[in-house]
Amino acid sequence: MAVIPVALAGRSYEVRVGRGLLGEAAHHAGALLRKNTVPIVADRNAWDAHGETLVASLRSAGKDHALYLVEPGEGSKSWSGLQTLIDWLLEQGVERGDHVMALGGGVVGDLTGFACAILKRGCGFIQLPTTLLSQVDSSVGGKTAINTAAGKNLVGAFHQPSLVLADTDTLATLPEREMRAGYAEVIKYGILGDAEFFAWLGEHGNAVLAHQEAALEEAVARSVAAKARIVAEDERETSGARALLNLGHTFGHALEAETGFSDRLLHGEGVALGMVLAARYSARRGEISAGDADTVASAIAAAGLPSELAALGLDCSGQTLADHMLHDKKMDAGTLPFILLRSIGEAYLAHDVDMADIAAFLTEQLQAH
Ligand code: GLY
Repeated sequence: MAVIPVALAGRSYEVRVGRGLLGEAAHHAGALLRKNTVPIVADRNAWDAHGETLVASLRSAGKDHALYLVEPGEGSKSWSGLQTLIDWLLEQGVERGDHVMALGGGVVGDLTGFACAILKRGCGFIQLPTTLLSQVDSSVGGKTAINTAAGKNLVGAFHQPSLVLADTDTLATLPEREMRAGYAEVIKYGILGDAEFFAWLGEHGNAVLAHQEAALEEAVARSVAAKARIVAEDERETSGARALLNLGHTFGHALEAETGFSDRLLHGEGVALGMVLAARYSARRGEISAGDADTVASAIAAAGLPSELAALGLDCSGQTLADHMLHDKKMDAGTLPFILLRSIGEAYLAHDVDMADIAAFLTEQLQAH
């Protein structure tokens, strides 16, 4: 097991990564579970696959549980979903010093985290992420949110969990496409800040995707450690450090919007292609070489992720994609900061990007062979 501290004044916590952690959840949570009945909010699929393991662990510590099931999919991160969950938590008598367990992927973590942020002005929660994407990204760092008609994650709060248990055994039941989509966020940490990790993934990426335990645990732990460092430096995304975690997300968001936030392009797939576009745009600005941009594209392609915009078969212009970006929540006083590359392993925040140039670049990429 790897233990990664997230160091935050007054709100520090640990992310524990390894095999079998769900079966030991009560032991790891220890005194965080004050009462005999533990409220669990779980994704229905995650519950079917892992509920029994979690319940057995609670039972061995003399604990009962109360269960709230969430339907899989972004649709559950809604105002009405939040209200129903909050009413249920109130019915359970959850108090500020209690901890709610969130079992599942990003949807359950974001929804439960936000409910816990506002329940009685804030109660505790424990993240039990069961997807690669949520283990390396959304369960760590305290971003919680729901979606509204105006867009994804537009209503939320920073609310840190008290503990994260990333049980790598849970990834065994993850569909391969979701595993690869989560892996995009793993490669992201290498590209944005750690050339050595990027090179390590070049050697061990196939082992990670094949669920070889040592490689998988190391990839998750190194990703979490990278995120923990950034979150400790810039918890509320004010200095620019945390914004680097959005590498690939602005381009990716436009692609997700154009494909209707549908199964046609999963979030991680959009981020993967978005990182290639960020690298190619950085090369166009002369900040990295065309060879480095090709290296990024090859690493993404080698992981079975989309790496060429033209291959997506979109029937739209570069301007249409650029227009989608203007609805991005990272818009700041009328300008859109872009995360670009100075090298593989060094991302930076560019505030001088001209949207007309982005549109022209995207038009070229839509047509490139
Ligand atoms: N997923 C980006 C962040 O947590 O800041």
